[in-house]
Amino acid sequence: MSKITLSVIKADVGGYVGHSSIHPELMEVAKEKLEDAKGKGLVLDFHVTHCGDDLELIMTHTKGVENSDIHGLAWDTFVAATEAAKKLKLYGAGQDLLKDAFSGNVKGMGPGVAEMEFEERKSEPVVIFMADKTSPGAWNLPLFKMFADPFNTAGLVIDPTMHDGFVFEVLDVKEHKKIMLNTPEESYHLLMFIGATGRYMIKNIYRKDGDIAAAASTQKLSEIAGRYVGKDDPVLIVRCQSGLPAVGEVLEPFAFPHIVEGWMRGSHNGPLMPVPFHYATPARFDGPPRVIAAGFQIVEGKLLGPRDMFDDPSFDEARRKCNEIANYIKAHGPFEPHRLGLETLEYTTMPAIMKKLEGRFQPEE
Ligand code: F6R
Ligand code: MG
Ligand code: MG
Repeated sequence: MSKITLSVIKADVGGYVGHSSIHPELMEVAKEKLEDAKGKGLVLDFHVTHCGDDLELIMTHTKGVENSDIHGLAWDTFVAATEAAKKLKLYGAGQDLLKDAFSGNVKGMGPGVAEMEFEERKSEPVVIFMADKTSPGAWNLPLFKMFADPFNTAGLVIDPTMHDGFVFEVLDVKEHKKIMLNTPEESYHLLMFIGATGRYMIKNIYRKDGDIAAAASTQKLSEIAGRYVGKDDPVLIVRCQSGLPAVGEVLEPFAFPHIVEGWMRGSHNGPLMPVPFHYATPARFDGPPRVIAAGFQIVEGKLLGPRDMFDDPSFDEARRKCNEIANYIKAHGPFEPHRLGLETLEYTTMPAIMKKLEGRFQPEE
């Protein structure tokens, strides 16, 4: 079989109720569109889901990454779902479609994209992570643990085929540059950058033989629009097993609910809660931020699944801890470190407030 491409393209085209979830009708519209595309042979298979208020299109095809037909299909699907959202007067209808007309690639137009092309292995297990009320930097910590931390991934020590380590492709989203860093040799260099999650984001991870292992969405809506337009609510694809981290090693980092940017008004730090699909409905203070994990076996390009990977009691403790951390950090109210630092807040309404009070600032004595 030729190479297949797995594309996950997502957008918030309207919330139900507020920013907490999406209306089932939007999912129906998306399924109809993708079913039609499957009938025409454009996609091999698809799965439509949501995480919070984000509509998630998971598609397999043979057209490679950044293909204009596939991106066009996703764009048209989001436009159709926006129409449905407008009719239902859903909240923020079309909020992530930042441009009026499609021009060949959804990158830079609002939707988030993670995609990878690979030769389907004898067995091809993948986990697709989807998050709401956070930003792409949220994947840095779990990805490092999966692919470079032997305390998380036993295979890095025990499986000789993993001893070579992995190559991390890291983007500097401010300077629009990228760097490739090898682990384990350059782990400390890597951590120096990816610890700054607002600026440096892991885009892809490769085996040293060049095979792709993980791909994340790295779109920052505020970088596109030049102002705050909601959080970026990222997605991530991870291939698993046989020389790659096992499914359990890929899920393990989420047992520690690390602190991410996002939550209420995209302006707060809070813990990332791993939840089953039916709990991907951020409620308290529009959160805490959620992550779901959809497991698939890919069979001749078809998506067998999903299995709801966080629908398991082994993540109960992480959820409990998340609520405890949420109580603690939330009690800071409008103070840092619950509220984001100044540099990030400058993308919100802060400039407007500064302008209003401009004349009131006097020289210090
Ligand atoms: C965060 C998010 C929500 C909104 C909040 C205010 O990513 O989407 O927390 O920021 O509900 O929404 P508006 O300003 O639309 O009333
Ligand atoms: Mg929304
Ligand atoms: Mg969202």
